[in-house]
Amino acid sequence: MNISVIGTGYVGLVTGTCFAEMGNTVSCVDIDADKVKRMQNGEVPIYEPDLEFLFERNSKQNRLRFTTDMEASVTDADIVFLALPTPPGDDGSADLSYILAVADQLGPMLKSYTVIVDKSTVPVGTAELVHRRIAKHVGADMFDVVSNPEFLREGVAVDDFMKPDRVVIGTSSERAADIMRRLYAPFVRQGNPIIVMDERSAEMTKYAANSYLAMRISYMNEIANLCERVGANVDQVRRGIGTDTRIGKRFLFPGVGYGGSCFPKDVKALVKTSSEYEYDFRILDAVMRVNEIQKDTLVRKVAAHFNNDLKGKKIAMWGLSFKPETDDIREAPSLNTIKGLVQLGAEVAAYDPEAMENVARECYENISFAKDPYEALNDADALLILTEWSAFRTPNFEEMKKRLKQQKIFDGRNVYDLDTMKKEGFYYSSIGRDVINSN
Ligand SMILES: NC(=O)c1ccc[n+]([C@@H]2O[C@H](COP(=O)([O-])OP(=O)(O)OC[C@H]3O[C@@H](n4cnc5c(N)ncnc54)[C@H](O)[C@@H]3O)[C@@H](O)[C@H]2O)c1
Repeated sequence: MNISVIGTGYVGLVTGTCFAEMGNTVSCVDIDADKVKRMQNGEVPIYEPDLEFLFERNSKQNRLRFTTDMEASVTDADIVFLALPTPPGDDGSADLSYILAVADQLGPMLKSYTVIVDKSTVPVGTAELVHRRIAKHVGADMFDVVSNPEFLREGVAVDDFMKPDRVVIGTSSERAADIMRRLYAPFVRQGNPIIVMDERSAEMTKYAANSYLAMRISYMNEIANLCERVGANVDQVRRGIGTDTRIGKRFLFPGVGYGGSCFPKDVKALVKTSSEYEYDFRILDAVMRVNEIQKDTLVRKVAAHFNNDLKGKKIAMWGLSFKPETDDIREAPSLNTIKGLVQLGAEVAAYDPEAMENVARECYENISFAKDPYEALNDADALLILTEWSAFRTPNFEEMKKRLKQQKIFDGRNVYDLDTMKKEGFYYSSIGRDVINSN
């Protein structure tokens, strides 16, 4: 099939590349001319495991192309994917201006029947809005608008896209549903379902999924905070409940709060939708409140430890991205933490395998970036761990102790076990577990 993907960010680029890998011809459109030029020159603008190889292979075989010319891309397409940003507006609702602006342009460009697919996360009713905008220019027999929410996780996006647990397709048109089923058939050969439903239910499914996952994280953070007070170990509790098949093992890890470009904005948007329908979604209000407080948990712990005075203190930080295997720092807890520490007078020396450039671009003061994890530790009064990159899991503890001025670790991701920390002689404060005070 000929596919046009409009918006070549994390979702659009992965979507386009994976469809090309299955033999489709994909033209990716972006408004950012510089980004398009880089992609035309073979550069992958984001970090995502396994993406570069597929990007190169499909670009070479001319199944994956990049352009700023939306009309040329759309005119030939059987299917047009909208993978545009839907950032939170001032009132928390999803900002639909990117989607609707493109929808307005699309109508006059359609020359034969085309399926228009909302891949972006959009509030209930958006497929109908997009339909109305396009129908101003062409007859209803020339197109259908389908909601096809994306569930990929950054960091494992290619794998998730290639082997989705399920594909959700929201449409009331049999013709569009057939085309979408054919497109996705190679991705579900192991038998995972393609679930066809109405547009509104598909749109709601995405918000329901993300809000539920955010709720699990906030719930576990609350359990962890209570574990600290009652002297229980949240790792044991997590194992204890995660083995219950009604609960399941995933998304039960406590930490420094959820971040990223999706959970915070999607929870907010669902609350906003609720209020528009005069429904008070009490659980999600609590989920957001808990998360805001949790994002500052390391700052509170460090401040309390150093009597609220970090003047002249150097704090090393491992991990900046909102989760491992990505360079994405949108709403990352590391950013709150840096601000909090600097406000209390600290100097921060940070290391992250992929995200340092993105943080440097935000122009924070009193932060330096190290070329490797150990360099960040030189003369530091404490190390904070914000992202559980694999490279931090089995470090050289002797080297760490040599470089740190004070052998103190504040771990926001529970990367190390308590016995190891005791044996190695660190002061070690983590989430939902006893503080080890070996110093
Ligand atoms: N990032 C994720 O993990 C993820 C997962 C599932 C769903 N989503 C949803 O997918 C959507 C896209 O997210 P993303 O993270 O890929 O966003 P992104 O910001 O990484 O990418 C959006 C791209 O759209 C481009 N763009 C903006 N206006 C344009 C226009 N008029 N024409 C062409 N291109 C234009 C931007 O230049 C950018 O490259 C959002 O609704 C998001 O909620 C994201």
